[in-house]
Amino acid sequence: NWTMANFIETEIKRIRQLVGPTAEVIGAVSGGVDSTVGAKLMKEAIGDRFHAIYVDNGLMRKNETVTVKKTLDEGLGINLTVVEAGDEFLGKLKGITDPEKKRKIIGNTFIHVFERVAAEIKPKDGSDIEYLLQGTLYPDVIESISFKGPSQTIKTHHNVGGLLEDMKLKLIEPLRELFKDEVRSLGKILGIPDELVWRHPFPGPGIGIRVLGEVTPSQVKIAREADYIFIEEIKAHGLYNQISQAFAALLPVKSVGVVGDQRTYEQVIALRAIETTDFMTADWFVFEAAFLKKVASRIVNEVDGVARVTYDITSKPPATVEWE
Ligand code: XMP
Repeated sequence: NWTMANFIETEIKRIRQLVGPTAEVIGAVSGGVDSTVGAKLMKEAIGDRFHAIYVDNGLMRKNETVTVKKTLDEGLGINLTVVEAGDEFLGKLKGITDPEKKRKIIGNTFIHVFERVAAEIKPKDGSDIEYLLQGTLYPDVIESISFKGPSQTIKTHHNVGGLLEDMKLKLIEPLRELFKDEVRSLGKILGIPDELVWRHPFPGPGIGIRVLGEVTPSQVKIAREADYIFIEEIKAHGLYNQISQAFAALLPVKSVGVVGDQRTYEQVIALRAIETTDFMTADWFVFEAAFLKKVASRIVNEVDGVARVTYDITSKPPATVEWE
């Protein structure tokens, strides 16, 4: 009789056995459901011998760091280290416009920062960290088996893969047999807030691949503010759970507008919202005209640097979900 409650019990036992009575475990958390569920499971199994690390890469959504602190540290009691590394990431991204280069830089910088912080989290007895938690799900396991070789990789999905070789850590993947909906019900049982359990996925490179062209602090700010308004309106209209993923991308083109009797010449925001079951194919979400009208007017009025808002009506395929 396989239920989520006894999955938790069995998995906690398995983790305790694997890790033993003294070893320490680290894991990256992102504010998403998978890493949070994984972290909470580790916390239940080994308490403060699990160290969660959250790297603020300067490319996260608005208020994200504060929210992660509140939910994981204060709410779930997880032993959390927050690293502010925005300047480091944005420094490395200076002058870079190629999407795959951006992904590589962000992925590699993440590994550097993570390793540096992990080295500082030495267990009290001076021993080394032995294990790395990864929130790998069953579909990720399947994908890494079926997508062999760079020729078949459409985009490199950078998470923490490279960390293993560099740090000689052993891997713990408590979610590797689960599908997303199972992780969500696990999250509910573990007391993770609904908001987080039902959160849309967010790519590792974050706003870095949603600012088309060069990623500068001011460009990130525009994309972040526009995205916040879009998601806020989606939630206010009760649409969040009907949509699989939604975000704003900032296009590297300027367009003419008119505000009052002034001509403006500013950038363009593209809104994207999709429905999908597996993210391999996706349909764009059909909003009411009044909703789009409201979002467009709020973004142009409230976000400095935006003259025009468009809505992306391309399915996947041929378009991908992200713009880069
Ligand atoms: P695409 O754009 O490939 O996106 O249709 C499918 C899903 O994957 C997410 N995505 C990423 N996630 N690192 C990630 O962790 C990445 O580099 C990356 N690129 C895309 C995307 O947000 C969508 O959910």
